[in-house]
Amino acid sequence: MELREALRRRRMVRSFQPRPVDAAVVVGLCEEALRSPTAGNSAGVRFTVLAGDAVSTYFDAATDAAWREENRRAPGLMRAGAVVVATCCPSAYTDRYSESDKSKSGLEDRENWPVPYWQTDTAMATMSLLLLLEEAGLQATMWGNFRHDQRVLDLIGATDEQLVASVIIGYRDEEGDFRSPSLHRATPTRAERVRLLTL
Ligand SMILES: Cc1cc2nc3c(=O)[nH]c(=O)nc-3n(C[C@H](O)[C@H](O)[C@H](O)COP(=O)(O)O)c2cc1C
Repeated sequence: MELREALRRRRMVRSFQPRPVDAAVVVGLCEEALRSPTAGNSAGVRFTVLAGDAVSTYFDAATDAAWREENRRAPGLMRAGAVVVATCCPSAYTDRYSESDKSKSGLEDRENWPVPYWQTDTAMATMSLLLLLEEAGLQATMWGNFRHDQRVLDLIGATDEQLVASVIIGYRDEEGDFRSPSLHRATPTRAERVRLLTL
């Protein structure tokens, strides 16, 4: 599949068939996705793969009973075959930018970073993963956690890491997918969001 086609075809999918996903395939795609660049080659992005029975353990940690019972998307999402938890290590960045070739940047202190590149890098690698999943014939949604971050971090045994998002993965179930209301928002066109500056 051409890159442009993967980019065009990718959509967030929130309902999956009850069909297993090969954990080894997802691990391989995560490793490929980590070819994405990281600031100063800090390499502070981590992916944790959960598949099979571990998926329901993930949802137990990431959601609560009320969400699982009441949210119309819950059954479809929870049929996912795998989850990738995307985390980052801010200390990898402050350590890297304390090294002699970077120390003039003043970025050895986390508070001095105008943009938290540990999150930027995790987003870049996650987008690569979404495209690789599309190419591999899998579908996914990037899912913000927000509520039970610490429980998810405890589940994956991450100590010095921040949770950025989870990627919920499976094979699309056409019937039960409730598209996001966000898609009905009036947004500027892609062309309107690109500036060409001619001086
Ligand atoms: C950083 C980020 C967080 C998101 N969080 C959620 C989420 O928590 N739940 C969800 O259903 N979709 C989430 N989305 C998906 C967006 O709603 C979706 O990408 C957007 O509406 C455009 O739809 P498309 O990706 O299918 O083109 C998230 C997307 C991004 C980039």
